[in-house]
Order: sequence, then C-alpha cells, then structure tokens
Amino acid sequence: MKLKALFPLTLLFFSSLPSVSGEQAPWLDKDYLDERTRQLAPTRTAAPSQWRVIWTKEPSTRATVSWTTGKKGSGHRVRYGVRSSSGPKLTESIVPQRSGAYSSANGEYFHHARLSELSPSTTYDFQIESEGNKSPLMHFTTAPADDRSFRLLFGGDSRTGINARGQVNLLMADLSEKDDELIGFAHGGDYIVSGRNWSQWSTWLSQHELTVAKSGKVLPIIPTRGNHDGGPLYDEIFDTPGGKEKNYFFTRISPEVALVTLNTEISAGGEQRSWLAQTLADLRPEVRWLLAEYHRPAWPAVKSPGAAKKFWVPLFEKYNMDLVVESDGHVIKRTVPIRNEKKDPTGIVYVGEGGLGVPQRSPKTDRWYLQKPGMAGADHHVMRITFAKKSMDYEVVLLDQSKADSMTFLPR
Ligand SMILES: [Fe+2]
Repeated sequence: MKLKALFPLTLLFFSSLPSVSGEQAPWLDKDYLDERTRQLAPTRTAAPSQWRVIWTKEPSTRATVSWTTGKKGSGHRVRYGVRSSSGPKLTESIVPQRSGAYSSANGEYFHHARLSELSPSTTYDFQIESEGNKSPLMHFTTAPADDRSFRLLFGGDSRTGINARGQVNLLMADLSEKDDELIGFAHGGDYIVSGRNWSQWSTWLSQHELTVAKSGKVLPIIPTRGNHDGGPLYDEIFDTPGGKEKNYFFTRISPEVALVTLNTEISAGGEQRSWLAQTLADLRPEVRWLLAEYHRPAWPAVKSPGAAKKFWVPLFEKYNMDLVVESDGHVIKRTVPIRNEKKDPTGIVYVGEGGLGVPQRSPKTDRWYLQKPGMAGADHHVMRITFAKKSMDYEVVLLDQSKADSMTFLPR
C-alpha cells in the first residue's frame, strides 16, 4: 500500500490563521446556535420528534426511520416515496414494527419503522406521522449497488459539551447540504455521559435534529456503542443494531466498501473475535475499501490500549484493513501505518479519537505511532472520507470548516 500524507498539520498551525467568516460557519455565533436550538421539536407531545434514520446491514435497500413521541399513541406511520422533481409523492406507507416506552423516561415512546426493498442510490422523501401530527418533510439517499464514489462522515464522543455538540451537528448539516455524494454518518460511541439517563439521551436526540440540512436531507447514522452508552436505552434508540448483547455487525455500503462496526463494551475475544475473523476473511477478497470502527482504541493517543489491540489488531493486519476508526480519547489522531508493533509502509492506519463536542484533551505526542507521517492534535471535528475507484480520501474538518488533517490512501 502506498500512502501519501498531504497536510499533516497540527492545530497550532490553524490557531495562527485568521478566523473564518461567520458566513461559512454561522454556528460559531452563540445567538445563531440558540435560535436553532429553540426550533427543535418539543418532545412531550403526541407529535413526532427526535427523528433519525439508522443504517446497519444492507443500506442500499434498507433503512430504519425512528422517532419519539411524548405519549404512547396508536396512529404512527411513515409515508415515503422516491423523490421527484415534480414534488413529493409519498406513495408508500409503513407502520413501525417496533414501538415501546424508553426505559426510565417520563412516558416518551420510541418508534422504529424498518423500510425495506428500497432502490439503491435513490433519494426517498419521507414524513413521519403520529396521531395525525406530521414531521417536516425530509429525505435520505440509499447506498449504491454500483461502484460510484460517495462520502461518509465519521466521529465519536458527543457526551459533554452540549453547545459544541450542537455546533458540530450544524457543521455536519452544512457539509451534507452542499454535497450530494455525502450519504451517511458513522458515530463512534459515547453519545452521552450516562447511558441509563434518559434526560441526557433526550437532549442528544433532540440536538440530532440539527444534523438535518435545511433542505430536509438526513444523513443515516451507523451506530457504535461506547463505554458511556451502557444500559437498555442504546438499543431502544438505535433499534438494537447488530443484535441484542452484540451490537457488532458489518455494513456493506457498496459492492466495493465495507465498514465493520465492533463493540468494545463486551468481550473482544470469544464469539466477537471469531465473527470478526470470518467476516474479514469473507469481505477482504470482495471489497476495495475495508474499514473497521469501534470505540476504545487499540492505538490510543491519550489512554492505555484496549482489548482491541490483543484480539483484533492481528486480524486487521492479516486482512490488510484500509483504515480503522477509533474514538474515546477526545483528540485528533492519525497513526503511522502499523504492522507487528512497528511502523511499516504495508501496515494499518488508525484515525479518530472523538471530537463531536466533548471537551478535548492533550494527546500524548511522544508515542511512536503518532510521529510523522502520523499526527496528533485537539479540536472539535468530524472526519470525512471519500470512497472512489482510484483512492480513498480522508479529511478532518474543524468547526470553522478548515482542515486539520488529510491523507490519500491508494488501493492495496
Ligand atoms: Fe469513551
């Protein structure tokens, strides 16, 4: 594998740049953020709120539309149809296959409508209805069944820093609005501080509405469980992604791109390791870009290595992962390519560590795997990855839309 580092810049560099105008990043203005926050849907009524679209398996043909109501209600449905230039035609209708009371909440209910038999690379308009109350008209685009290029956002750690979380969400909406190739968002875990606390989740869910672009475009979320996300609410919110007490799965985003989502909050060995070995063996010959994401790092920029290092890294090296995304440290990092505990041009690059609002820490810049051509820094950020035939482009976007890091990967 050939690697080409384009801009391995530290944040020190960016702090010396003139500030970017509020036109490009209006969320940097607190009044703007407050105004957008006031417009979030109220949660204690019979009407839908806290809408989200969830991807796990088969995002080219399936998506789950999920929402909250403040009362149990009986008349819930999602109306949807292929987007057309002549206006919305919501020809299809589906009732939620799963509804229930959020654990330890104040009577709020979750609803999951699992849409299937969708067409690939197709934009669907949808509108949620509960007891005759309608959500705004929104839309999302299914994943491709061919080899066209597309982009995903990645990021983790939105558990504290409520204002900053809102700002990153508005940044994501803006990136999404002006980019038809951007189709989804993978969250690396630690959404909130205490996974059993409904009120914290409720704030997160309401703020998630800020990721919806002004046009109504929604980025489906691929969820990962973090160490702060314990308890039943995670599965109630994301419709038990990957199965109960597992929460690991793979997403075949296109014929050439697969993302394996792992769970660092259960045993990294045993069943999960066996599943990972088989999954990577099956996927590697089939896809050009093979990625993994999980919460606690194998190659941390702040803390000590998690169990991923012992159980998963040998498999990542055996199957030549193209990129691995980690969270939990609250910094920005990109390792050198690593194989057999050494820098190796054929090795695996690990990026991430989480910046969706959580206050940032200081990375341990003396660690060997963070030296050039790797990098380490600290700021609120979201990662954007473009998957194409000839390259996979990785960028780290800061709140003011400047880039803290980027790198181009070539196919192995
Ligand atoms: Fe964490």
